[in-house]
Amino acid sequence: MAATPIFVMSRGAGPVRATVHILLVLLACHPVLPTCPSLCTCYFSPPTVSCQSHNFSKVPLGIPPNAQRIFLQNNLITDLRVGIFGPHTVKLWLYSNNVTNIQTGAFWDLRSLQELDLGDNRHLKALDADTFRGLSRLQSLNLYRCQLTSLPSLIFRRLYSLQYLYLQDNLLLYLQDDLFIDNSNLTHLFLHGNRLRVLSENVFRGLMNLDRLLLHMNRLHVIHRWAFHDLYKVTILYLFNNSLTNLSGDTMGDLPSLEFLRLNGNPWACDCRARSLWAWYRQFRISSSDVLCVSPPERRGMDLRFLAEEDFVSCPGTTTGQGKNGVKAKWKPKIINGNGGAQTVNGGARVNGSSNNLYGLGDGRIDSSVPNPSTLYKDLPSNDIYSPKYDGPTEEDYWGGYGSEGDLQNCIGLDCPIDGSSSLSQESSWTLHLMISLHLCLLLLNRREL
Ligand SMILES: *[C@@H]1O[C@H](CO)[C@@H](O)[C@H](O)[C@H]1NC(C)=O
Ligand SMILES: *[C@@H]1O[C@H](CO)[C@@H](O)[C@H](O)[C@H]1NC(C)=O
Ligand SMILES: *[C@@H]1O[C@H](CO)[C@@H](O)[C@H](O)[C@H]1NC(C)=O
Ligand SMILES: *[C@@H]1O[C@H](CO)[C@@H](O)[C@H](O)[C@H]1NC(C)=O
Ligand SMILES: *[C@@H]1O[C@H](CO)[C@@H](O)[C@H](O)[C@H]1NC(C)=O
Ligand SMILES: *[C@@H]1O[C@H](CO)[C@@H](O)[C@H](O)[C@H]1NC(C)=O
Repeated sequence: MAATPIFVMSRGAGPVRATVHILLVLLACHPVLPTCPSLCTCYFSPPTVSCQSHNFSKVPLGIPPNAQRIFLQNNLITDLRVGIFGPHTVKLWLYSNNVTNIQTGAFWDLRSLQELDLGDNRHLKALDADTFRGLSRLQSLNLYRCQLTSLPSLIFRRLYSLQYLYLQDNLLLYLQDDLFIDNSNLTHLFLHGNRLRVLSENVFRGLMNLDRLLLHMNRLHVIHRWAFHDLYKVTILYLFNNSLTNLSGDTMGDLPSLEFLRLNGNPWACDCRARSLWAWYRQFRISSSDVLCVSPPERRGMDLRFLAEEDFVSCPGTTTGQGKNGVKAKWKPKIINGNGGAQTVNGGARVNGSSNNLYGLGDGRIDSSVPNPSTLYKDLPSNDIYSPKYDGPTEEDYWGGYGSEGDLQNCIGLDCPIDGSSSLSQESSWTLHLMISLHLCLLLLNRREL
């Protein structure tokens, strides 16, 4: 079913020479003319209102109540008030605006809402605890690159359907225990680029389906020993560029599904504190970044993973067993390859799988180079639309997967040709609409007369 622009209108533009008479006739025969806000483009199927990139300072009036997709990104909207958006809204894009105030209840009616993008609103400093109340169908919530310094404890409560939560590039200082307790469907949690210092024991409680946890570029220096309990499905964990000196093997042992780990860019202390992590590395097959020691001085620049057993002989409680004391037997090592864990001791490549390069982790070589920021995400699968959206969705994302739009794919608003017939001028397309409407109208009138 091809979607047709139902009403494309431009204030003060176009050949508004149509007489009042014709308009009256039109109105008479279409008593329920669908509305579309001025300067926006509307589509039938699914009902869509597209108002992006017009420097609107307010949500334009006249959004059809049945609209399912409302695109308002790249404007200058500051206030979101109660009653603007209706219960049929499924997708609501408000990224790259200037949203500052969200009136209590602005989203409460949005029972069907699945995707809400409020990212890149750089004056959005705080959110009420009940901002997202009732959004039980919400699957994707974007709050990246705002100015949030904290989040109310209850803000994500009852968001049972939430799968993607983007909080990166804010100013978050801490996360309360049980912040995500109701988000057991969450698979992607992006928290990088904040100012987090501590991860407490129950900060991630309830995230039983989490797959990706990005925490890089924070100020983490303490991770509670059991901070990752419940995260048994996590496959990707990024902790690079933080302030960690130590991390317990027990903590990592709570992540049996882990495949990609980045710990580089932390001031690792490779004294006895490092032993349990070292022991975990020996037993757990994983694709990892380097883990370079910063202290003690004689180990500076060495890779923690490839320290030798002898390096820990003088540590308290050491026996010659496999990390007997340093690592409590809470976790079980995942499958070890044919050679056993021993192959890693001399610093050789650990894992070989074809997926090793997926996340730019290469072959686990000892490499002291700092990741180049521009390569950080390049290695995420390019077709993964849920990769971090630093610049918001592109026009391609915007239309991707909506094949029904057909030839409207790469046009915006008034530039869109009608029915795929290319390069009709704005005026002629407007006129064409008018003619078709008039024609239909006359047909209808004729039939009535019969
Ligand atoms: C929006 O404002 C910017 C900056 O003033 C201007 O460059 C741009 O042309 C405006 N866009 C529209 C659609 O008016
Ligand atoms: C954005 O909002 C802030 C705070 O409301 C205001 O000070 C600023 O002037 C706004 N910027 C624009 C471009 O409208
Ligand atoms: C989680 O998502 C599945 C579908 O992906 C859904 O059936 C289930 O109800 C969701 N869980 C909750 C608690 O809503
Ligand atoms: C790990 O580092 C933190 C922060 O420096 C410190 O408080 C904690 O005691 C360290 N843990 C161990 C086992 O040394
Ligand atoms: C690992 O990689 C090396 C070199 O890239 C290759 O020779 C070897 O066959 C690989 N081993 C496995 C098990 O894939
Ligand atoms: C990580 O930190 C190092 C300094 O430790 C810095 O040079 C580098 O730019 C940081 N990486 C990113 C991606 O910002």
